[in-house]
Amino acid sequence: MIFHIANFYSKCLWIVLIIAISFNTPAIAANSGKDILDSKCLSCHTISKKTPSTLKELWERKGPDLSSTGIKYKQEWIKQWLQKPVRIRPAGMFYGNHIKKGKKTDEVDSATLIKHPKLTGEQATLVTKVLMTLKQNQNLVKTGDYKPGSISLTLGEMMFDKFKGCLACHQIEPGYGGLSGPEVYTAAKRLQEDYLISFMRDPQAWEPKSIMPNKHLKETDLQKLVHYLRALSQENF
Ligand code: HEC
Ligand code: HEC
Repeated sequence: MIFHIANFYSKCLWIVLIIAISFNTPAIAANSGKDILDSKCLSCHTISKKTPSTLKELWERKGPDLSSTGIKYKQEWIKQWLQKPVRIRPAGMFYGNHIKKGKKTDEVDSATLIKHPKLTGEQATLVTKVLMTLKQNQNLVKTGDYKPGSISLTLGEMMFDKFKGCLACHQIEPGYGGLSGPEVYTAAKRLQEDYLISFMRDPQAWEPKSIMPNKHLKETDLQKLVHYLRALSQENF
């Protein structure tokens, strides 16, 4: 009799276990990188290039285009950033929506900026893996285009500010520089060097309606600018 009761209980235990497992399966599936992307990210990001053909469309974008992630961003950076997102575009996707009149100059109205969703380490790893497979515009990037070298921060800044006028739109340290473009003091941590060369050579090839002017930079200047961005990202701001 005692034996039978034990047997009965162990059968119940099995049934409970099986039910628990079958209830759990959808939860496991919903946590694949692609499912996270579909459910939590695509309301703001596009992963299949649909290039805005008007300035209005560009400014209505809720988040950056991620369709070129695999040839644009550094994998390790994305994984870390998704767990601890910090601001990259000081005035959001379109500065016109987030600027208010300050005492002396215009200021960013940070109350209107979104707080980026945060992922756990596991989710970030899964999503990053999927994102890194996206390689839209691969034809624009030549592997090995960037040749490692160096430039002093002083010379680099002179070039970025005085000679090429880039500081008008980009911050080279928190609180110093223009607000309409992404900050560039972490650009080399975020972005692949060959992509940086390609984007600066011809911003409109990547973003036809970009407000960033094509300055027809010489190849040597493109290289020097990436040396500078790399030097900047070594600084700890
Ligand atoms: C509510 C809209 C929104 C949602 C939802 C959202 N994002 Fe973002 N995402 C943004 C905005 C806006 C930025 C730009 C942040 C900045 O410039 O500071 C951004 C930036 C990023 C970046 C950095 C790339 C870059 O160039 O700035 C990555 C990577 C990213 N998002 C991935 C994701 C992933 C993965 C998810 C889903 C888990 C997600 N985002 C969900 C709006 C969103
Ligand atoms: C009129 C404003 C403006 C000027 C001037 C400008 N940029 Fe930009 N830049 C932008 C904007 C806006 C973006 C974001 C991408 C886009 O919308 O085209 C950008 C993107 C970039 C990026 C990619 C950063 C990222 O996070 O994706 C780099 C690098 C860059 N610019 C470097 C430069 C350099 C170097 C110069 C000077 C030769 C320069 N920019 C001049 C507005 C500007």
